[in-house]
Amino acid sequence: MIRRYTKTAMALHWLIALLIVVNVGLAWAWPNVADESVRPLIDNHKSIGILVLGLAIMRLLWRLTHRPPALPTGYAKWEVTASHVTHWLLYLIMFAMPLTGWIMDSAWKDAATHPMYWFHLFEWPRIGGFQSLEPATRDYLHDLFGALHGWFAYALYALFALHVGGALKHQFLDREPELQRMLP
Ligand code: HEM
Repeated sequence: MIRRYTKTAMALHWLIALLIVVNVGLAWAWPNVADESVRPLIDNHKSIGILVLGLAIMRLLWRLTHRPPALPTGYAKWEVTASHVTHWLLYLIMFAMPLTGWIMDSAWKDAATHPMYWFHLFEWPRIGGFQSLEPATRDYLHDLFGALHGWFAYALYALFALHVGGALKHQFLDREPELQRMLP
């Protein structure tokens, strides 16, 4: 018998996964784009990132109030532990990426003259306090959180590879209905 996640968990899983892939794609695309076309890509990246933050909050609340379906029996103990560690690190990254991005953007020297609009719908606030800092401190924090944003992105790539690699291993080598757990 296949034990599946709930429809809410599936929807959040695939929506967040898609948005993260698009956001990484945008970040990879903009170094290769003409200067005048970069701004819309970055603006959409910021809006998508904030959307991921909102969905990640809902997802964490779901996770804290639901027990995921039991794993098929027969997985090695180290695999079960590795999957739990990877899942919780992925939750951490779902928050770390948007938050470091938002902090970096809040400390940006041009933030005051470039308000952020969430998908052109309404102005999204910068985190208070950064703009009233000494310019040198503000710039330092901008660069620090920019670097963290980049390092967390590398962690994201590694976790993504482990997560997908583990799922495919169980699906095709162990011949367990693994992907079906997250599919309607
Ligand atoms: C799902 C959430 C997010 C993901 C997966 C993500 C991913 C990335 C990646 C992969 C890069 C390139 C890093 C590098 O190679 O150095 C990047 C850069 C950037 N991100 Fe994000 N990001 C997210 C959310 C955000 C948010 C919420 C903001 C701002 C509100 C933001 C603002 C930026 C900016 C301004 C850069 C360019 C930094 C620079 O090179 O100057 N990101 N992001």
